[in-house]
Amino acid sequence: MRKKIVAGNWKMNLNFEEAKALAGELKVKLDHQRGVVPAHKAVSSPEVVLFPPYVYLTRILDLFINDEGVSVGAQNCHHEDHGAHTGEVSAPMISSVGATHVIIGHSERRSQFGEDDELLAQKVKQALKSALVPVFCCGEMLPERENGKHFQVVTDQLLRGLFWMDEVQLAKVVIAYEPVWAIGTGVTASPGQAQEMHAHIRKLIGDTYSKGAAERMSVLYGGSCNAKNAAELFANPDVDGGLIGGASLKAADFFQIIKSLDGSQ
Ligand code: PGA
Repeated sequence: MRKKIVAGNWKMNLNFEEAKALAGELKVKLDHQRGVVPAHKAVSSPEVVLFPPYVYLTRILDLFINDEGVSVGAQNCHHEDHGAHTGEVSAPMISSVGATHVIIGHSERRSQFGEDDELLAQKVKQALKSALVPVFCCGEMLPERENGKHFQVVTDQLLRGLFWMDEVQLAKVVIAYEPVWAIGTGVTASPGQAQEMHAHIRKLIGDTYSKGAAERMSVLYGGSCNAKNAAELFANPDVDGGLIGGASLKAADFFQIIKSLDGSQ
């Protein structure tokens, strides 16, 4: 069975006190939930992954040490493993502090820092070499959807960014479909739009690799997913969870989103 995941991308938000308070509050809620939800339901609990800014990684990791349900990752990594790249952080560094995941190809990196699919493929390689789970983002811009090019755009991003790897490597990747027009805008993809693209991604993996590879892949939805709309989005058969931005900054909202996926509500 493929993994259900709810990930919180904090982006460049929160000072350290706020970040600690958010993580602490979330931990209390999760611990409580685990205490009250019967064991047979806990089996379906989603994995929670937090993506704080780099400088908070170790401290947030400390909070969740020995917590098998919560992982911590970085929002980005460099495409080389070391060297004279002032201000950058490499995949081996991220993994050496105990983080397990890294977001690669977020649309904000693509648009604000000019990261293209070739560079992103290098980053994915670095992540895999360091045994980090790459959470690879893809998604179209509004004009591309309006012109009916959204399937092609996502296909190309996956072909160039991911599909150079073999099936064993692919099994270590998580994909996040994040339509750019939905990120931080309050405009969410409809459940139908999300399902349609997720099914497209799964079919693409099936055609390129195998049916088994497609079935194993966790495909998350991201883009104005919140406590109110999460359940509807997650009810789709090909939506395996969410990559949450704004709504991950409030413990109550993020916790509600997690509950929307774990079947305990
Ligand atoms: P949002 O961001 O939930 O604030 O739209 C999602 C993301 O960028 O990962």
